[in-house]
Amino acid sequence: MTTPRILLIATGGTIAGVAADPSQPAHYQAGSLDAATLLSALPGLAGIADIRLRQPFNLDSCELGPAHWLAIAREVAAGMDDAAIDGIVVTHGTDTLEETAFLLDRLFAPTKPLVLTCAMRPANALSADGPSNLTRAIEAAITPALAALGTVVVIDERIHAAAWLRKHDARALDAFDHGGSTIGRCGPIAIDFEPRVPPRIPGRIEVLGLLPRVDVLWVGPGSATDLLAAALANGACGVVLALPGNGTLPTAWRKAVDHATKRQVAVVRASRTSRGAVSAAPDDTPLLFAAGRLGPAQARAALMLAIAAQLPADHFFG
Ligand code: SIN
Repeated sequence: MTTPRILLIATGGTIAGVAADPSQPAHYQAGSLDAATLLSALPGLAGIADIRLRQPFNLDSCELGPAHWLAIAREVAAGMDDAAIDGIVVTHGTDTLEETAFLLDRLFAPTKPLVLTCAMRPANALSADGPSNLTRAIEAAITPALAALGTVVVIDERIHAAAWLRKHDARALDAFDHGGSTIGRCGPIAIDFEPRVPPRIPGRIEVLGLLPRVDVLWVGPGSATDLLAAALANGACGVVLALPGNGTLPTAWRKAVDHATKRQVAVVRASRTSRGAVSAAPDDTPLLFAAGRLGPAQARAALMLAIAAQLPADHFFG
């Protein structure tokens, strides 16, 4: 049997972070170590996979934007097209992993395992979680059955569907889920298949170069509705409202939302909560609709992608 060939695309994050004092892991610089250094800490991986490295950039994920998403997508596309690659792993910061994972999931057909991984503690912390997460991610990427799940995220021995990913904890090692994203466990791998297949547009990664402005507005009791008018005035092509509870639109916001949708600006009702799906409401319209299982961050990415690809605004919300 030939050794599986894995493409490892390293992009930075805490998994590549270094703390000045390993006993103080809260103070560190993300994106400090390169891919080869990360891998050199795990010599045992050479026994299970032949790993090729790519490093498009090495950054804190809060610094990323559409140009970085496009750079990652191009690296992934090259790996997907390369018959000499069996699976792909992307290392990434946790802070904006929701957006990157979502976009990759919607842009690539599930033909090879595509696994994102990350860490909550820097690489030199006394209790670093990156080495274990990267090991589990490589193991996942050499598991052909995983391809059918689309893009997945491996962290803390859990497998999450990128489509439903939410970061729910600023510190814990199991920082993700609470949006119902966990679809399996790894190490050893057990997978529960997610029955819903999200809509994708494989092969259209260039739309990442056309993403329009979409704003997220957080709505609390008495929040000023002129925020929506300001977003529109400043060129927003879509707006995601992070609303209370089940995406409940306060009465005071109705007029501002109607004004937006009359101008063909889509408005998504998302929730400020971290669990459960926002359900459709009787007065929803093609341009005012529920985020479903997508949190505000992913709803924004979904709407940007739909607008750039000239698809109906709710295309990725099914
Ligand atoms: C980042 O998102 O790049 C820094 C934080 C992290 O990876 O946990």
